[in-house]
Amino acid sequence: LVTSALPYANGPIHIGHLVEYIQTDIWVRFQKLRGNRCIYVCADDTHGTAIMIRARKEGRSEEELIAAMSESHQRDFSGFGIEFDHYGSTHSDANRELCGEFWKSLRANDLIAEREIEQLYDPEAQTFLADRFVRGTCPKCGKKDQPGDNCVCGHTYSPTDLIDPKSTLSGATPELRKALHLFVELDKLHEFLATWIDSSDALQSETANYLKGHFLANELRDWDISRPGPYFGFEIPDSPGNYWYVWFDAPIGYIASTKQWCDANGEKLEDWWKSDDCEIHHFIGKDITYFHTLFWPGMLKTAGYSLPTKVRIHGFLTVTGEKMSKHTKPAYLRYFYATKLTARVEDIDLGIDEFTDKINSDLVGKVVNLASRVGKFASSTGLSATYPDDGGLFQAAADAGDEIAAAYESCDYSRAMRRIMELADAANPFVEHAKPWEMKKDADRQDELRDVCTVALNLFRQLTIYLTPVLPELAQQCGDLLGEEITSWEQSKTPLTGTAVAKFQRMMDRVQPEDLKKMIDESKELAAEETKQDNLPTFNDSDQPLKDEPLA
Ligand code: 2FM
Ligand code: ZN
Repeated sequence: LVTSALPYANGPIHIGHLVEYIQTDIWVRFQKLRGNRCIYVCADDTHGTAIMIRARKEGRSEEELIAAMSESHQRDFSGFGIEFDHYGSTHSDANRELCGEFWKSLRANDLIAEREIEQLYDPEAQTFLADRFVRGTCPKCGKKDQPGDNCVCGHTYSPTDLIDPKSTLSGATPELRKALHLFVELDKLHEFLATWIDSSDALQSETANYLKGHFLANELRDWDISRPGPYFGFEIPDSPGNYWYVWFDAPIGYIASTKQWCDANGEKLEDWWKSDDCEIHHFIGKDITYFHTLFWPGMLKTAGYSLPTKVRIHGFLTVTGEKMSKHTKPAYLRYFYATKLTARVEDIDLGIDEFTDKINSDLVGKVVNLASRVGKFASSTGLSATYPDDGGLFQAAADAGDEIAAAYESCDYSRAMRRIMELADAANPFVEHAKPWEMKKDADRQDELRDVCTVALNLFRQLTIYLTPVLPELAQQCGDLLGEEITSWEQSKTPLTGTAVAKFQRMMDRVQPEDLKKMIDESKELAAEETKQDNLPTFNDSDQPLKDEPLA
């Protein structure tokens, strides 16, 4: 069972998000190609203040807003070849029910505490304000219009320390109000979490070290899990007027989405979430590490669900120079990300020149080139009845299959792509030396030509099989050309012979620098709009780090 983080319903998908969905989709396609049973579930993350405020501003209901967003997200995902087995929503009956079940077990295990806290309240918008909805003058340096938690001068404070604070929702001056909040007493799970992090092999070592250093070394703070109404979410059944904080119901959405898939496919949820036979892999970004490695395992353990087999954490996309729009061709972006992704929590740099170079010289120049050099001759020759002597190229590439598979399995796509391109480097000289375009002109050399086509197309097919998780469309084109669909990794071990070859169709064009210029920059605006911080965790004590720090 594989998941990607559930995207917020308060903004569109941009190329920064796509790192994760493409990374996950490649892994899932790889598993399926290897013959493993694997399902990929996701959902929109729909609750929280940001959605409520936005719906109000747009004069429509939250339900209308999240329905439109879900449609837009799914359209974008499918445009990039990301194929979910099920795409749900956290605002579903299935999720509400499961949240109730988790809640009951937290109560039953005496993990919930209640107390009043003071918080800023916007009397005009009639809602409590998260830190980022408050701005004012820095109490230290006097700089105006600073956010609720820290100033450009480097000083950090709580929003109540600001001079002349204003609500960004209405401009009103916020007032302090008391409200009841419910907390998960996470430290009661301290020992369990410490043991799990040490012994489970679920986390990259850098992540385990980060958690030990930043969290487990001290008492774990209580986690504020409720919000007083008005709030767009699920009301807590035994605490009327209070709602589960969005980060409570969001990860439960993984299970709810699986449940919906199960119901539609005659499957049992227990086989996926309560069985030792099922591996659970969460793909997430480094900013939401503690939700998935502290709170979430704590919740799962308490409610009697399986713990994640792996939490696979990636870094952020950074961009050199300009940003590219999401209208970049899917195959280009998928391949580019694949060349950059490793098993570590590293940021990925997107440089326009590197991007152009990778597509033009690797994909078009080395891989597709093998097919396009012989494709138009091969439709008349077909493939030879027996596989010709190729100097050991096919066998060598077949032998590399296990190593490439291991790289995919461990999410080191960068290594997989490098290995595949080495094979392409070895294959291309064969065609260059053979010069099939000269054979074509000589009626006596047609058998030779057929042999060259057979070698080149089989080497192309082998590389394409290895690239199938990344480039499903190329796999489809290769299957169409050679009359046999690519469905299994095993196909890379045996050459195709004695079959007809279809009329050659262009497979992939070079990236033109002018096209790239045209595709620039939409994503920058989308990213700026995103109000991601809405869902940062809140604790009952503000000196717990609220924002993620770079992983050590
Ligand atoms: O950070 C985010 O974008 C969240 N919407 C991810 C939620 S993941 C899961 F826990 F639901
Ligand atoms: Zn300041």
